[in-house]
Amino acid sequence: MIVDRQGRRFRNLRVSLTAACNYACTYCVPDGKRLVAAQDELSGEDLARGVAYLIEAAGIERLRITGGEPLISPRLEGFLTAIAGLDLHDISLTTNGQLLSRRLPLLQAAGVRRLNVSLDTLDAAAFRSIARGGDLATVLLGMQEASAAGMRIKVNMVPMRGQNLDQVAPLLDYCLARGYELRFIELMRMGHLARDGNAFRQQLVSMPELLTLIGQHHAFEQASAAVDATALRYQIPGKGYFGVIANESVPFCRACSRLRLSSTGWLHGCLSSSNRHYIGDLLDRPRHQALPALQRLLVKALADKQELAFAGGVMVMKVIGG
Ligand code: 5AD
Repeated sequence: MIVDRQGRRFRNLRVSLTAACNYACTYCVPDGKRLVAAQDELSGEDLARGVAYLIEAAGIERLRITGGEPLISPRLEGFLTAIAGLDLHDISLTTNGQLLSRRLPLLQAAGVRRLNVSLDTLDAAAFRSIARGGDLATVLLGMQEASAAGMRIKVNMVPMRGQNLDQVAPLLDYCLARGYELRFIELMRMGHLARDGNAFRQQLVSMPELLTLIGQHHAFEQASAAVDATALRYQIPGKGYFGVIANESVPFCRACSRLRLSSTGWLHGCLSSSNRHYIGDLLDRPRHQALPALQRLLVKALADKQELAFAGGVMVMKVIGG
């Protein structure tokens, strides 16, 4: 097992199936152009072999499938088929929900039980100006069907001043009423927001401000969370839970156990580092050749983690999926 000075190791793997996305969210895509097709992406089978090798080489226990938007990828089915039977405690997926209704049977058959759905507003006009793609009603219906089918739903909202701050209370109430756990993600300095400090500071809604706002509507208390969780969890007694991923206000690098694999075959040990390590050429090699090479790269990837706090990065979520 590869462990660093702070006792950190990789447990959770996020695999991006594609960088393509049917949205062009303001925090991710500054020019508003949707990326319809990405270049040089690995097959679902190769990515699945990456997962299998990383389970062995890094001790991965949990898998999250991300994008871009993973449900638009033609590799989804091949990937899910190829990871069936791997020794994973948990398989989850992050999606914008546009294709959820259609892909639900496939996800269920593959053992996906937990979904994170990105949704920044319940207002149709604001939805159009933030997501710049897709349709609000389709997301809501997709969540409803997934929930009725027994999936656990978390909703990711990025509160932004001037865009959706008025939606904090309505979205929270909407989620509480349906048993979805809402998770507020503090805006992260990624991509153009890492270069444009003014745009970042002007839009950032920090955790103290957010909790004050929520406190005007609900009484809440802190709840327990897993040791390597990124979210702080709160309980609204009798009503449910919500979480805050407070990259800026309460950094969680010290407990980070994440490893990311991009759709083009690059390993990323840290969202805040521009280092990455290519493993695409190892995936068609036999296990006894691939594993030692992979372990050497994992040592480097682990050393890419920040000591304390997210410092910003050139990458955007569309490449690596959160
Ligand atoms: N800051 C915070 N959250 C972001 N996401 C994408 N880009 C950013 C950013 N710069 C969110 C998406 C998605 C999750 C994976 O990350 O909304 O829900």
